Amino acid sequence: MNVFVTGGAGYIGSACVEELLNAGHMVTVFDNLTEGHRAAIDPRATFIQGCLSDRDLVIKSVGQAKTEAVIHFAASALVGESMTNPAKYFRNNVANGLNLLEAAKENGVRKFVFSSTCATYGLPERVPMDESTPQKPVNPYGESKLIFEKMLLWFEQSHGLEFVAFRYFNAAGATPRFGEDHRIETHLIPNVLKVALGQKEQCDIFGTDYPTPDGTCIRDYIHILDLAQAHILALQPGKRGFFNLGNGEGYSVREVIDTCARVSGKAIKTVEKPRRAGDPPRLVAAAAKAKTELGWNPQYPKLEQIVASAWAWHVKHPSGYGD
Ligand code: UFG
Repeated sequence: MNVFVTGGAGYIGSACVEELLNAGHMVTVFDNLTEGHRAAIDPRATFIQGCLSDRDLVIKSVGQAKTEAVIHFAASALVGESMTNPAKYFRNNVANGLNLLEAAKENGVRKFVFSSTCATYGLPERVPMDESTPQKPVNPYGESKLIFEKMLLWFEQSHGLEFVAFRYFNAAGATPRFGEDHRIETHLIPNVLKVALGQKEQCDIFGTDYPTPDGTCIRDYIHILDLAQAHILALQPGKRGFFNLGNGEGYSVREVIDTCARVSGKAIKTVEKPRRAGDPPRLVAAAAKAKTELGWNPQYPKLEQIVASAWAWHVKHPSGYGD
């Protein structure tokens, strides 16, 4: 299939592009390289450097690639930043995303696969959360993704554009080639591993008074290769709708730090800090729907395996992609 991947130079996108190519698909990567890296683009893919704000370029590029399916990773994706700069999130994730949706419609694309998030649920009343959990986002990031989910429903109804929207829990881990290198790193696992590598002195723990067994936030970590597998399954004709992608097991911040220490064999110095704005205490997926309807079968469900893959990548790429 001819697949047009936005954000294919980014963390999750680069791993998915690699897997799409391995599965025999033809891939065009569309990325403006503000978050992504040139070196993270699989050389087997065609690359177009461009911005989704450029509506004419997006429409032309989707057409030139003879696109049959779009996979839309490109987004602003930091909960904390969205609280201080909501406009950036509505512009990039809603307005610019709409240009891509229109381009898909104009070019007769058959399938649209979207990276949504468990942040659309807000503060769930109970976990694990399935796809029917009420969606009440508590930050502009989650809100922007929820608006796009609704746009997908209307484009499907009005134009017959079949869609799959994946609500990711916490993406983590690395492939041997592609890993996590954000220009400003806010995520837990890479920050803990930077301490293990000696690049940071200490790791902050944001909030130790949450209503959880050890007082720190609980998250469900999912390997980027398992996310990639789900996107490939979503390309099958007739598959549509909303799916959670997580492992159904929650780990606290302290448990993640302990796992990183064990895997790396290094002591991790920690400092307890106040809560970070916009963080729900506990997010854990019920992801049975993706398994039964798509045939999704995660290969790396254990936190230890996920952290080990990330550690191997960071050891091999201590300066990330070096740009
Ligand atoms: N945390 C720390 N110290 C750090 C970094 C993070 O204690 O140095 C804590 C956070 O406060 C949070 C947990 O670790 O409680 C996980 O934080 P991350 O920043 O790694 O991930 P988030 O859960 O905030 O957000 C990520 C993605 C979002 C996605 C969300 C879904 O960035 O795009 O997962 O849960 F929506």
